[in-house]
Amino acid sequence: MRFSEYVLNRRYLLTKIVQGFSLTGGLFLAYPFVRSWLPGFNQSHTREVDLSDLAFGEVKQVPWLGRRVMIKIRSTEEVEALSDASVSLKDPDSTRSKQPEFARNTHRSQRADIFVAYGNCTHFGCIVEPRGPNSPAKFSCPCHLSEFDAAGRVFADAVAPKNLEIPDYQFLSRNTLLLTSSD
Ligand code: FES
Repeated sequence: MRFSEYVLNRRYLLTKIVQGFSLTGGLFLAYPFVRSWLPGFNQSHTREVDLSDLAFGEVKQVPWLGRRVMIKIRSTEEVEALSDASVSLKDPDSTRSKQPEFARNTHRSQRADIFVAYGNCTHFGCIVEPRGPNSPAKFSCPCHLSEFDAAGRVFADAVAPKNLEIPDYQFLSRNTLLLTSSD
């Protein structure tokens, strides 16, 4: 092989290697964009929850995005109690609390009978526990005893600073809830 042929072959080989690396890098960069166009890509950002087995007064707890979501069927009495202005709450209109736009109402939910909230206390994040039907509080925190009503609104004398956070969700049917993430 002559020297000029050797140089040409080497240059050709190096060009091909560089092209190969460029192509591989390009594929890695393009992968997330291409995947996001595919149908079903966002499925990992949703979770369906069947509510058909949930009875009045019960609270269903499901893991969601590394946290726990509480779903409670409220009785008519519990819904009516949410409008009782004599109950002393820290943020009754939830102006300082976190919820989607659709939950900016007295019952902090899409449907008055179904309450959905993250189970983390807004003090130090302990998981709140459901309370029995005879208690004015419907959730309480085992760590420092903050109490919340049936809309997750914190009572005025509690140490938790805000109402329970409400996740994004929608109803696919009467008994099927879809937890969604806007992140
Ligand atoms: S963590 Fe709930 S009251 Fe402190």
